[in-house]
Amino acid sequence: MTIRKIAQIGHPILRETARPLTKEELASPRIQAFIDDLVETMRDANGAGLAATQVYEPLAICAIEVGDNPRYPYKPKIPLTVLVNPVVTALSDETFENYEGCLSVPNLRGVVSRFARVKVTGWNRDGSPYDQECVGFTAGTMQHEVDHLHGKIFVDHVKDPRTFTTWAEFDRYHKGPFMETVAQVVARYHR
Ligand code: NI
Repeated sequence: MTIRKIAQIGHPILRETARPLTKEELASPRIQAFIDDLVETMRDANGAGLAATQVYEPLAICAIEVGDNPRYPYKPKIPLTVLVNPVVTALSDETFENYEGCLSVPNLRGVVSRFARVKVTGWNRDGSPYDQECVGFTAGTMQHEVDHLHGKIFVDHVKDPRTFTTWAEFDRYHKGPFMETVAQVVARYHR
Protein backbone atom coordinates (compact mmCIF):
# COMPACT_ATOMS: atom_id res chain seq x y z
CA MET A 1 0.00 0.00 0.00
CA THR A 2 1.09 3.52 -0.73
CA ILE A 3 0.16 6.75 0.98
CA ARG A 4 -0.77 9.10 -1.85
CA LYS A 5 -0.25 12.83 -2.09
CA ILE A 6 -3.44 14.85 -1.46
CA ALA A 7 -4.30 17.55 -4.02
CA GLN A 8 -4.71 21.03 -2.57
CA ILE A 9 -7.36 23.61 -3.49
CA GLY A 10 -6.43 25.34 -6.73
CA HIS A 11 -5.28 22.14 -8.41
CA PRO A 12 -7.58 21.54 -11.42
CA ILE A 13 -8.09 17.84 -10.57
CA LEU A 14 -10.34 18.93 -7.68
CA ARG A 15 -12.68 20.55 -10.22
CA GLU A 16 -12.98 17.52 -12.46
CA THR A 17 -16.05 15.30 -12.53
CA ALA A 18 -15.06 11.74 -11.69
CA ARG A 19 -15.98 9.05 -14.18
CA PRO A 20 -18.06 6.03 -13.18
CA LEU A 21 -16.54 2.56 -13.10
CA THR A 22 -17.82 -0.67 -14.61
CA LYS A 23 -18.05 -3.77 -12.40
CA GLU A 24 -15.22 -5.38 -14.40
CA GLU A 25 -12.94 -2.39 -13.87
CA LEU A 26 -13.82 -2.24 -10.17
CA ALA A 27 -12.83 -5.89 -9.75
CA SER A 28 -9.42 -5.33 -11.39
CA PRO A 29 -6.26 -5.55 -9.26
CA ARG A 30 -5.34 -1.99 -10.24
CA ILE A 31 -8.56 -0.48 -8.88
CA GLN A 32 -8.64 -2.71 -5.78
CA ALA A 33 -5.04 -1.67 -4.99
CA PHE A 34 -6.02 1.95 -5.58
CA ILE A 35 -8.88 1.60 -3.05
CA ASP A 36 -6.40 0.23 -0.48
CA ASP A 37 -4.22 3.32 -1.08
CA LEU A 38 -7.23 5.64 -0.78
CA VAL A 39 -8.19 4.16 2.61
CA GLU A 40 -4.59 4.20 3.83
CA THR A 41 -4.14 7.84 2.76
CA MET A 42 -7.40 8.87 4.47
CA ARG A 43 -6.34 7.19 7.72
CA ASP A 44 -2.83 8.61 7.58
CA ALA A 45 -4.24 12.15 7.24
CA ASN A 46 -6.94 11.61 9.93
CA GLY A 47 -9.64 12.37 7.36
CA ALA A 48 -13.29 11.51 7.89
CA GLY A 49 -13.40 10.78 4.18
CA LEU A 50 -11.34 11.01 1.01
CA ALA A 51 -12.42 11.06 -2.61
CA ALA A 52 -10.38 9.63 -5.50
CA THR A 53 -10.13 13.04 -7.17
CA GLN A 54 -8.31 14.28 -4.04
CA VAL A 55 -5.50 11.82 -4.80
CA TYR A 56 -5.38 12.73 -8.52
CA GLU A 57 -7.58 9.87 -9.82
CA PRO A 58 -10.79 11.12 -11.49
CA LEU A 59 -12.72 7.94 -10.62
CA ALA A 60 -16.10 7.84 -8.86
CA ILE A 61 -14.82 6.28 -5.64
CA CYS A 62 -14.66 7.68 -2.13
CA ALA A 63 -13.80 6.30 1.29
CA ILE A 64 -15.45 7.35 4.54
CA GLU A 65 -14.60 6.34 8.09
CA VAL A 66 -15.07 8.06 11.42
CA GLY A 67 -13.55 6.49 14.50
CA ASP A 68 -11.93 8.47 17.30
CA ASN A 69 -11.07 11.28 14.93
CA PRO A 70 -8.85 14.06 16.32
CA ARG A 71 -10.00 16.45 13.56
CA TYR A 72 -13.69 15.86 14.29
CA PRO A 73 -13.99 14.44 17.84
CA TYR A 74 -17.75 15.19 17.97
CA LYS A 75 -18.72 13.24 14.84
CA PRO A 76 -20.70 10.05 15.42
CA LYS A 77 -18.73 7.00 14.30
CA ILE A 78 -19.03 5.61 10.76
CA PRO A 79 -17.55 2.20 9.96
CA LEU A 80 -15.18 2.07 6.98
CA THR A 81 -17.30 2.59 3.88
CA VAL A 82 -16.00 2.57 0.31
CA LEU A 83 -18.54 4.01 -2.13
CA VAL A 84 -18.31 3.40 -5.85
CA ASN A 85 -20.44 5.43 -8.30
CA PRO A 86 -22.35 6.96 -5.36
CA VAL A 87 -25.52 9.00 -5.70
CA VAL A 88 -26.89 11.15 -2.87
CA THR A 89 -30.58 12.06 -2.77
CA ALA A 90 -32.11 14.35 -0.14
CA LEU A 91 -35.01 12.68 1.69
CA SER A 92 -36.44 15.94 3.03
CA ASP A 93 -35.66 19.65 2.79
CA GLU A 94 -34.50 19.71 6.42
CA THR A 95 -30.99 21.16 6.72
CA PHE A 96 -28.45 21.81 9.46
CA GLU A 97 -25.45 24.10 9.70
CA ASN A 98 -22.06 22.41 9.95
CA TYR A 99 -18.49 23.68 10.31
CA GLU A 100 -16.69 21.72 7.61
CA GLY A 101 -13.05 21.25 6.79
CA CYS A 102 -11.26 19.34 4.05
CA LEU A 103 -7.88 17.69 3.58
CA SER A 104 -7.62 19.59 0.28
CA VAL A 105 -8.20 22.97 1.96
CA PRO A 106 -5.38 23.51 4.43
CA ASN A 107 -6.19 25.05 7.78
CA LEU A 108 -9.63 26.40 6.97
CA ARG A 109 -13.13 25.67 8.18
CA GLY A 110 -16.42 27.33 7.31
CA VAL A 111 -20.15 26.93 7.87
CA VAL A 112 -22.04 24.92 5.25
CA SER A 113 -25.73 24.05 5.16
CA ARG A 114 -26.33 20.33 4.50
CA PHE A 115 -29.37 18.13 4.09
CA ALA A 116 -30.06 16.33 7.37
CA ARG A 117 -31.55 13.19 5.80
CA VAL A 118 -30.21 11.63 2.64
CA LYS A 119 -30.26 8.34 0.80
CA VAL A 120 -26.92 7.12 -0.53
CA THR A 121 -26.86 4.48 -3.24
CA GLY A 122 -24.02 2.97 -5.25
CA TRP A 123 -21.74 -0.04 -4.94
CA ASN A 124 -19.43 -1.37 -2.26
CA ARG A 125 -15.84 -2.15 -3.31
CA ASP A 126 -16.87 -5.73 -4.18
CA GLY A 127 -19.55 -4.44 -6.55
CA SER A 128 -22.46 -5.36 -4.26
CA PRO A 129 -25.19 -2.74 -3.94
CA TYR A 130 -24.89 -0.03 -1.28
CA ASP A 131 -28.15 1.56 -0.17
CA GLN A 132 -28.31 3.48 3.11
CA GLU A 133 -30.28 6.27 4.66
CA CYS A 134 -27.95 8.65 6.50
CA VAL A 135 -28.78 11.42 8.94
CA GLY A 136 -27.12 14.37 10.65
CA PHE A 137 -23.32 14.55 10.57
CA THR A 138 -23.12 11.25 8.70
CA ALA A 139 -25.38 12.69 6.01
CA GLY A 140 -23.12 15.78 5.93
CA THR A 141 -19.99 13.68 5.49
CA MET A 142 -21.60 11.74 2.63
CA GLN A 143 -22.61 14.97 0.86
CA HIS A 144 -19.10 16.43 1.31
CA GLU A 145 -17.37 13.36 -0.18
CA VAL A 146 -19.77 12.81 -3.06
CA ASP A 147 -19.49 16.52 -3.89
CA HIS A 148 -15.76 15.97 -4.51
CA LEU A 149 -16.67 13.48 -7.25
CA HIS A 150 -18.60 16.30 -8.96
CA GLY A 151 -15.71 18.76 -8.72
CA LYS A 152 -17.19 20.61 -5.75
CA ILE A 153 -15.38 21.67 -2.59
CA PHE A 154 -17.07 22.70 0.68
CA VAL A 155 -15.96 26.31 0.24
CA ASP A 156 -18.36 26.51 -2.75
CA HIS A 157 -21.27 26.07 -0.32
CA VAL A 158 -20.16 28.55 2.35
CA LYS A 159 -22.87 31.23 2.13
CA ASP A 160 -21.28 33.60 4.62
CA PRO A 161 -17.52 33.92 4.02
CA ARG A 162 -17.26 35.58 7.43
CA THR A 163 -17.58 32.10 8.93
CA PHE A 164 -14.19 31.09 7.49
CA THR A 165 -11.73 30.35 10.28
CA THR A 166 -8.39 28.66 10.77
CA TRP A 167 -8.47 25.54 12.93
CA ALA A 168 -6.71 27.37 15.80
CA GLU A 169 -9.20 30.25 15.75
CA PHE A 170 -12.07 27.76 15.45
CA ASP A 171 -10.92 26.17 18.71
CA ARG A 172 -10.49 29.58 20.29
CA TYR A 173 -13.67 31.38 19.22
CA HIS A 174 -16.18 29.12 17.48
CA LYS A 175 -15.93 25.67 19.02
CA GLY A 176 -17.90 26.60 22.15
CA PRO A 177 -21.02 27.89 20.35
CA PHE A 178 -20.72 25.16 17.68
CA MET A 179 -20.75 22.44 20.36
CA GLU A 180 -24.32 23.55 21.18
CA THR A 181 -25.30 22.92 17.55
CA VAL A 182 -23.48 19.58 17.71
CA ALA A 183 -25.48 18.58 20.80
CA GLN A 184 -28.74 19.52 19.04
CA VAL A 185 -27.87 17.64 15.85
CA VAL A 186 -26.76 14.57 17.80
CA ALA A 187 -29.91 14.65 19.96
CA ARG A 188 -32.17 15.08 16.94
CA TYR A 189 -30.61 12.64 14.49
CA HIS A 190 -28.15 10.31 16.19
CA ARG A 191 -30.13 8.58 18.88
NI1 NI B 1 -13.01 17.22 1.39
